[in-house]
This record gives sequence, C-alpha cells and structure tokens, in this order.
Amino acid sequence: MINYDEVIALVKQTDSLIFDEEATGHVLKKGMDDYVTYVDLGVQHFLKKELHDRYPDIAFMGEEEGETVLHPEGLCWILDPIDGTTNLIHHMNLSAVSLGLWDKGRIVFGVVYNPFTKETFSAVRGQGAYYNGKPIRTSTETDMKKCLISFGSSPYDRSFADRTFEIIKNIYLDCREIRRLGAASLDLCYIAAGKTEGYYEMALKPWDYAAGSVILEEAGGIVTTMEGEPLAYEHGGSILAAANGTVYDKLKEYMKL
Ligand code: IPD
Ligand code: CA
Repeated sequence: MINYDEVIALVKQTDSLIFDEEATGHVLKKGMDDYVTYVDLGVQHFLKKELHDRYPDIAFMGEEEGETVLHPEGLCWILDPIDGTTNLIHHMNLSAVSLGLWDKGRIVFGVVYNPFTKETFSAVRGQGAYYNGKPIRTSTETDMKKCLISFGSSPYDRSFADRTFEIIKNIYLDCREIRRLGAASLDLCYIAAGKTEGYYEMALKPWDYAAGSVILEEAGGIVTTMEGEPLAYEHGGSILAAANGTVYDKLKEYMKL
C-alpha cells in the first residue's frame, strides 16, 4: 500500500538540496545543449534512496545516472529530479521535481513540485487533481482567440526547430498569446490548473511528462503524442496537450504541418 501523502512530503523535502547555490553552480554537460547540475544528481540520489527504503519492491527510472530504462512489468517510479535545468542554472525560479508512478501500462500517480513558488500539483488516477491540496480543473475556453498556448523548443535536438517554430507561428497568429516556460511538467500542470489551454513539444522523455500527464488527465484535460497516439514510456516522443476536446481538436490541425 503506497502512502501518496508521504511520497509528496518526501518530494517537498528536496527544498534544501535545490536551494544549494554551490550545487546549482556545478554544471556538467551531458550532450549537445544538455546540462546537469549537482542539484539534479543530489535530488535523484535522495529520492531514489528514500523511495527504496519505503518501497523496496518498486523499480526506479530517472533521468540521471544511467537509470533511464523503464521496468514495465510491475510498478516503477519515473523521476525527473529537476525538470527545467536550464531555468535552474539561470535562476528563473521555474523548475520542478517531477515524480510519476507507472503501474503495468499506465501512470497511476504524479506529483510536480516547484520549490521556488511552493506549488505542488498532484493526482492519483481516478481521484482528481490537486494544486496545493485544492481540487483543480482545466479551462473550458474553446475560442482560440482567448487561449494561452505554451510550447517547448526541444532544445536537445535542434533539427526540430523549423517545424516547431512554424507550428507556433501559426498558432500565435490565431490565439491570445504564447509562452515558452522551460519545464514540460509545469506546462502540463498549468493546463491542469486552468492557467493555459494547450502545449506541444516535438521531443521529450518519459520523465518529462509522466507525472504531468496523469495530473492533466485527472483535471479533465487530454494528452497524446502530436499524432494523437498514447504517450510512450519505454522511449520518448512528442506531446500534444489540451484543456478540453475542442481546443485539442483545433491544436491537432496545426500539428499536421
Ligand atoms: C527539459 C524541459 C524543457 C523542454 C525539454 C526538456 P530538463 O527538461 O522540460 O522545457 O523543452 O525538452 O528536456 O532537461 O530541464 O529536465
Ligand atoms: Ca531533468
């Protein structure tokens, strides 16, 4: 039996690790435009250990330290210790710890915590979505002219740039405004909380969207790949998320570019 409140409390205990200025300044390069700090490594190390101490039978997948393989047969935590590492390095205060729980084919729990704003988004499949303990629902707006749409630039593979920016240009010409937050988990949670109406990105990893996807679905939203397929968890892929069916159908048209 998993005590989800205890898991959320554990995620919030990462505050002191994240506010460590010295660790934030230790930046290592993982790949082309892909960075990791000592904060990312410290948060993953801490949560992996604490979760294992409490739930030794649950497998673990995380962005850092070669733990990137999903164990699909049973339960598996899916962690992004810091979603929004570039924001962290630049002191943008727009990063989150993102933890999901996979159960034989779907995500059954998610928590996304921004330590800078003390915002906690969470959901257990079938039990609704919450923001700092209060229930949340997505926006019911269907008029694109009143919609705020965010997107991601897939920074680790710039070959997606042409299509990404062509799509957002077309959306921008039709909607109220666009945003580029820099943390995919928060993009999903902002739709869940009714702040924005849509989001897409061409290349993400499972830990970027595991927690946010269940939070968004539990708040009434829709999330698929840009082709309309279920999200993949054994590998990464694109994402299209929307607050309601009408906005989803409209955004899907832009993805056909
Ligand atoms: C990244 C962020 C960013 C998105 C990238 C992700 P990271 O995650 O979510 O917004 O554009 O595609 O990889 O690397 O900061 O954990
Ligand atoms: Ca990360």
